Amino acid sequence: MSETIRNLSEVAELLRVARSVVVVTGAGVSAESGIPTFRDALEGHWSRFNPRELATPEAFAENPARVTQWYDERRMAALACAPNAGHEALARIEQACTARGAAFVLLTQNVDKLHQRAGSRNVVEVHGSITRWRCSRTGECFDELPTPFPSYPPPSPSGGLLRPDVVWFGEALPDHALNAAAKALRECDLYFAIGTSGVVWPVAGFVLSAKAAGAATVEVNLTDTDATYEFGLTLRGPSGAVLTALADAAGGAP
Ligand code: OAD
Repeated sequence: MSETIRNLSEVAELLRVARSVVVVTGAGVSAESGIPTFRDALEGHWSRFNPRELATPEAFAENPARVTQWYDERRMAALACAPNAGHEALARIEQACTARGAAFVLLTQNVDKLHQRAGSRNVVEVHGSITRWRCSRTGECFDELPTPFPSYPPPSPSGGLLRPDVVWFGEALPDHALNAAAKALRECDLYFAIGTSGVVWPVAGFVLSAKAAGAATVEVNLTDTDATYEFGLTLRGPSGAVLTALADAAGGAP
């Protein structure tokens, strides 16, 4: 922890002077809200399910009832959770950045909407949203939906079946998200990866783009990851406590 305390003051100074901040978040940021991560042993989503049987277009085609029921259970769990201190600290940091005219973009891999519920404004959901569902026939999206669905698979108002508007294995990220991320990464001078194992592409490559733009890079995580060697600085500890300390140190108004 002593290295993290030393690094915290350095990162807070970087944050105070940054002109363009990009933050990437993963499931670790929502873990303290009670939402399981994907790859952590025991509690992780994937530890009890085979993602290839649930999070692919093929799985949906083969068994739409099973896939939509699993995602609806995750949707209901997300709606029942509350943003944690880490989400709130990121909203404070964004406010402090924009108040002094700096750019701030939050690229989240999470589909739980907790960043938005905590007050983050410039959020790009690179893996979609579990609270938004899409017609499998027309592509039309719907946010106002029964909670939970009365039956599975849920019928779409426009004639097909409803599927979660999330990115499945084998699917491309939405163009708007990729374009927003590419622009933000080209311009950033400070890059954070928070609560992500950094193994799923293309998000795993974002740190390389940030470094190519000359950005300082910071990894916030409980532990080292396979991507840690790419980062100039690390802050080790639970994201709620670390981000709150960072927002306080950098002067983000509570
Ligand atoms: P993972 O489960 O792969 O990684 C979670 C990371 O969060 C790990 O590195 C943990 O060490 C860290 N972590 C856990 N609790 C934490 C805490 N309290 N504070 C800080 N860090 C903590 O989740 P992601 O990296 O988000 O994709 O997974 C990336 C993508 O893989 C997901 O978006 C999903 C999955 O396939 C799609 O669904 C397309």
